[in-house]
Amino acid sequence: MPRLTVRHIAAFKGKGERVAMVTAYDATFARLIDEAGAEMLLVGDSVGMVVQGHDSTLPVTMDQMVYHTQAVARGSERALIVADLPFMSYQASDDDAVRNAGRLIAEGGAQAVKLEGGGRVLSAVRRMVDAGIPVMGHLGLTPQSVNAFGGFKVQGRGDEAAEKLVEDALRLQDAGAFALVIETIPAELAKRVTDALTIPTIGIGAGIDCDGQVLVCYDMLGLFEGFMPKFVKRYASLAEAAREATKRYVEEVKAGTFPSEEHSFH
Ligand code: KIV
Repeated sequence: MPRLTVRHIAAFKGKGERVAMVTAYDATFARLIDEAGAEMLLVGDSVGMVVQGHDSTLPVTMDQMVYHTQAVARGSERALIVADLPFMSYQASDDDAVRNAGRLIAEGGAQAVKLEGGGRVLSAVRRMVDAGIPVMGHLGLTPQSVNAFGGFKVQGRGDEAAEKLVEDALRLQDAGAFALVIETIPAELAKRVTDALTIPTIGIGAGIDCDGQVLVCYDMLGLFEGFMPKFVKRYASLAEAAREATKRYVEEVKAGTFPSEEHSFH
């Protein structure tokens, strides 16, 4: 099955069809999410929190992002793969941005990259787009700026912050971004941004009026129990299921009932 491209994703907005995006960090989850019909897989730097156990996305490295992107590419067939540029892989220079985005595409097998921020990343976005690399923007609660924000807080509240966010969104679109993640902002502001743009907005904690939605797979499947932001909906309770299954396994090992004949060789 041919993979979806950024052109397909752009066309969804014109047709008024919503886009479903889910994060994935390994081949097994990538396969399941791809088979379930999500149009985009995000190899998010949220891997630092839900897989690596850090309390922010900041420690994630380029080598780790390439490694996870490769796994997701091997596990999926149809969904467009977007890989995050991690903290400090693009902030110091536009040359860094182009080189590191190139690695996610050439070594990782992603079809697009995502980076966080507005005005300060515009020249990097232009350089990557010029190099033939599709770029997704990310505004609102951008987790790589958690220290500047003083925590994971709702962004874009108040007239000035809202105006700036709309302006940044338009500038990212002008710079060539093919889509925009908007995270943890008031739903009314997300609608304003969505109406103002011709490129699709993908919301997370940004209400119903975005052109698509994204969730972290560990949150959506009820695997990550550390904390649950208000915008997360758990569609399964896999943490509970995993604990229960492991308990039964431990009991059977101790009782000497596993492995049975069925699971033994002679
Ligand atoms: O890293 C990530 O998972 C993300 C999403 C929350 C949008 O950037």
